Amino acid sequence: MPKFIINGGKTLSGKIAVSGAKNSALKIIPAALLSTEILTVKNLPRIEDVERSFEVLSDLGAKINRQGDEATIDTSNLSSTELNAKMANKFRGSIMFVGPMLARFKEVKFPHPGGCVIGAGGRPIDLFLEGYRAFGAEIEEVSGKFYHIKANKLQGADYFFPLVSVTATESMIMTATIIPGTTTLKNCAMEPEITALAEYLNSQGAKISGAGTPTIIIEGQEKISADTFTVIPDRIETGSFVIMAAAANADLEITDCDPEHIMTLLQILKKVGVDFSYGPDWIKVNSGKLPLLAHGIRTHEYPGFATDLQSPYVVLMTQAQGTALIHETIYDRRLIWTDMLSQMGANITMCDPHRIVTQGPTKLHGKRLMSPDLRAGIALVIAALIAEGQTEIDNIYQIDRGYEKLEERLRGIGADIERVE
Ligand code: EPZ
Repeated sequence: MPKFIINGGKTLSGKIAVSGAKNSALKIIPAALLSTEILTVKNLPRIEDVERSFEVLSDLGAKINRQGDEATIDTSNLSSTELNAKMANKFRGSIMFVGPMLARFKEVKFPHPGGCVIGAGGRPIDLFLEGYRAFGAEIEEVSGKFYHIKANKLQGADYFFPLVSVTATESMIMTATIIPGTTTLKNCAMEPEITALAEYLNSQGAKISGAGTPTIIIEGQEKISADTFTVIPDRIETGSFVIMAAAANADLEITDCDPEHIMTLLQILKKVGVDFSYGPDWIKVNSGKLPLLAHGIRTHEYPGFATDLQSPYVVLMTQAQGTALIHETIYDRRLIWTDMLSQMGANITMCDPHRIVTQGPTKLHGKRLMSPDLRAGIALVIAALIAEGQTEIDNIYQIDRGYEKLEERLRGIGADIERVE
């Protein structure tokens, strides 16, 4: 199993470019099913989840050509409506194929999606199933968490999300785009990846209004065309690098990003005392003049503090003066990883499964660790970069799921990090 070996305490400086957003790429690839024309995707991150997504789509019979960070996808001759269970089980993003498949073929078979360990009960999909039923589909749960969805007729519907869900919002938008009738979705997620998807689909003939607001209305179309989609910058990678620069007291310029997508984090970092400036597609962090001050956060749906930035932020709080209450409101189990941070010397109290209190600043020491999910993984890398001594991080497939060529880019700014097979 490959692992990272990191010798901490090095001075980091220079420039690091942000890749295309994993959580945008994992939606536009399934969206290729909504049209029989050829879709070109640009600025694709070369990460494991994108590879898994292409594997699922080509197993269904799509023709895919890759050229660096570009891909063309032709779904005009699909040969199957059953997602390959072994492949789909490897990542949560596989659920994104179900909505478009249902809309196009009125039938789809798929396994319960795999992927992250976070979230109670293996990341429920009840909102997706409720949504497909609202469109008129029948769902049969076959043995061992395998689903068979069929529909004689699909019709646009009204649906009020009992819980704000990013992928359920995206899935319902995609299905509604090419079925007859009008769909009104309420209590929708508002992530930038949703707006980017809707804007692209509208440019190809879809009629979607309200993306980026809690109410989205979709007027179903007979068919839509396909053209070129450029994946938006990864806001979670951007935020992780800003936090890394602050924690490492580095002079770092983060390029090819969109600061507008992480405004909550930037507002909080101002209160923490991080010295930074930003422009349309760059953020410059300056090595600290002030001591960092602890500041509590509560994760929240977009545009609130992103749950995916909670893990890196906790590492920053171990280096800040005072106590901070970190309240993870979106997922169960998303604070379990902090036990490893405590083993490195952090002073963290687990108040309940959704709340911890950090007390800083504390010196961190290198340890042998294992990355439980991709966001805790990048947090452990940041902790290792600032810790004294050597850290080993196992199970870095979880990190490769979401961060392209991480060790190369970190070495480029002075980190002492090596991938050992
Ligand atoms: C998306 O996951 C992202 N993944 C997650 O990023 C991100 O953490 C999350 O949104 C929240 O921002 C992708 O876009 C591929 P949710 P998603 O549905 O859509 C519960 C990463 O690290 N829920 O918004 O799966 C769920 O358990 C990943 O890149 C149900 O109960 O998250 C959670 O508690 C991690 N039933 C809450 O809703 C459902 O049917 C919000 O989850 C669906 C979700």
